[in-house]
Amino acid sequence: MSENLNSLRIPKTLMKVKSLIGVFSAKGGVGKSMVSLNLAKSLVNQGYKVGLVDGDIYGPSQPLMMNASNMKIEVKDEKILKPLIVEKISFMSMGLISSEKMPVIWRGPMVSGAVMQLLSQTEWGELDYLIIDTPPGTGDIQLTIMQRLPITGAIVVTTPEDISVSDTRKGLEMIKKLSVPLLGIIENMSYFKCLDCNKSHFIFGKGGGETLAKEYKIDLLGTLPLLNLENNLTILDDKICKKEFDKIVYLVDQKVKELKMKTSEAIPQTPLKN
Ligand SMILES: Nc1ncnc2c1ncn2[C@@H]1O[C@H](COP(=O)(O)OP(=O)(O)OP(=O)(O)O)[C@@H](O)[C@H]1O
Ligand SMILES: [Mg+2]
Repeated sequence: MSENLNSLRIPKTLMKVKSLIGVFSAKGGVGKSMVSLNLAKSLVNQGYKVGLVDGDIYGPSQPLMMNASNMKIEVKDEKILKPLIVEKISFMSMGLISSEKMPVIWRGPMVSGAVMQLLSQTEWGELDYLIIDTPPGTGDIQLTIMQRLPITGAIVVTTPEDISVSDTRKGLEMIKKLSVPLLGIIENMSYFKCLDCNKSHFIFGKGGGETLAKEYKIDLLGTLPLLNLENNLTILDDKICKKEFDKIVYLVDQKVKELKMKTSEAIPQTPLKN
């Protein structure tokens, strides 16, 4: 948990959420939303209770990715929102709130405030993991999420090329500065496996994820190929991606357990007197 945890007031609706995982990258379009969704799906496949919140207020992409664009959420007591349940994932996104309900829910013009409202006004219930899919950048929204929420750990997504590595470094620096534990890096679009010639083509270069992992002494949790997603194929339909996500879930779960152990060890223990 982040160092500033003691100064946080955890929203009531998040009290029963055991672990909060933020998926970040300073660069746009590297696959944060894809990773967030498939991490959530893979955790569900392993039997965990999982939630997913789309932190992109201006351009929420999860409703489309989850085939939920036409679904709208219930507003209870004009304040607390009930998440949608899609493929066993408790899901919330700005894209699910109908425009008539908007004025009831959104007060205050700041987008970062809107993300906080989306998180804190949703009745998440009991969850093992709540995944926050964040928008690109190192601005107000990312700062608010990391400073005001008890983030258990951050996952950073990059693609292999230099520009992405350089942008992602900014994100990593921000996470470090805010003392949010880094769970590791995922390199997306690492290569394309051509079915005709059976060769792997490194379209966006090679090794960006590994470079960052070494530089920041964190784990490269997985490398995901660029897939041809024609004919309604999804990332987890691909055997390699499925295996990588299973590995990512295993590593994330291990790291979260280690972090929790450290946090509980750090709490001073007073022997009880009879
Ligand atoms: N490994 C992959 N193979 C094929 N397509 C992919 C892969 N990863 C992501 N995509 C596709 O690339 C696009 C961008 O991915 P995604 O929306 O997850 O990125 P993002 O980092 O969340 O973007 P933004 O910064 O805009 O939020 C999406 O259409 C997604 O389906
Ligand atoms: Mg996104």
